[in-house]
Amino acid sequence: MERNLQYFELNTGAKIPSIGLGTYATSPQILAPAIKFGYRHIDCAHIYGNEKQIGVALKELFEDGIVKREDLFITSKLWNFDHEPKDVPKALDRTLSDLQLDYLDLYLIHWPVKEKKGVPDSPDKYIPTDIPSTWKAMESLYDSGKVRAIGVSNFSAKKLDDLLEVAHVPPAVNQVECNPFWQQAKLHEYCRSKHIHLSGYSPLGHQSSEANKKGLLFDPILNVVAKELRKSPAQIALRWGLQMGHSVLPKTSNEARLKENLDIIDWSIPENLLCKFSEIKQEKIVTGKNMVHEASAGYKTVEELWDEQL
Ligand code: A2P
Repeated sequence: MERNLQYFELNTGAKIPSIGLGTYATSPQILAPAIKFGYRHIDCAHIYGNEKQIGVALKELFEDGIVKREDLFITSKLWNFDHEPKDVPKALDRTLSDLQLDYLDLYLIHWPVKEKKGVPDSPDKYIPTDIPSTWKAMESLYDSGKVRAIGVSNFSAKKLDDLLEVAHVPPAVNQVECNPFWQQAKLHEYCRSKHIHLSGYSPLGHQSSEANKKGLLFDPILNVVAKELRKSPAQIALRWGLQMGHSVLPKTSNEARLKENLDIIDWSIPENLLCKFSEIKQEKIVTGKNMVHEASAGYKTVEELWDEQL
């Protein structure tokens, strides 16, 4: 029987809605229509710079009785300059205050990357991580009840393995780029084996709808499947993610596309079409190369960042 793909269960027992609204570089004005259309999962981060506006929009939605706090699943992320254990609770308090919330459903270490605070962009700003001590501070937030689950983002299987060695509370989620162009099959297999849910950002290939005709939504295989099932290429990309067992976090500033991206629950891609996805050439979009410098004390190469073989 087909699984219910409206949510996935985390290792905490909580349910994470399978479709979330990404908020990076999107106007917070999209939040109200998104909630009205049925989005219940909002993916935020301090570094996106819009948590205050999202907080205002949420407050209004709660006050107008459009949605209740307990019916939403709200994620945020700890930025690289807040990895010091003493900074972790302060960072969470700032995010909670900006979002006007008293708890988060999920708090993630945004990158396995550590930056010095207040240093302008330069190789000098990157320093070696100490994930075990940052994680310990994340665990204290979990124990305090201010965050109902903790997890990571942009972690390789190797980095997750290292973390699991020291964690008292295992990460509930690893949020990574995941779409038909970067399918993450091995990482997903690893996560599944460790009961870590994989959440996919840039599920549409992080492209503007019209600007980049060579992007994911113009892929010939995706378009053949879309035509056959009478769906849009975006819906096919998102539905593929759900069928793989990922939650998906599409972003849009357009109301029609908000609706379109939600309409992926009550139909499925049959096996004979699903197998075509293995023919799609793999290439990641978010490389993290801006966080890697030959001259830095942090990662010197992207291969080190992602633990990839040279
Ligand atoms: P727009 O805001 O104009 O809708 P991702 O979530 O993978 O990072 O992709 C986000 C990009 O995909 C945005 O540029 C967004 O543009 C575009 N997008 C979102 N939904 C759709 C859709 N259903 N069809 C086409 N493009 C979309």
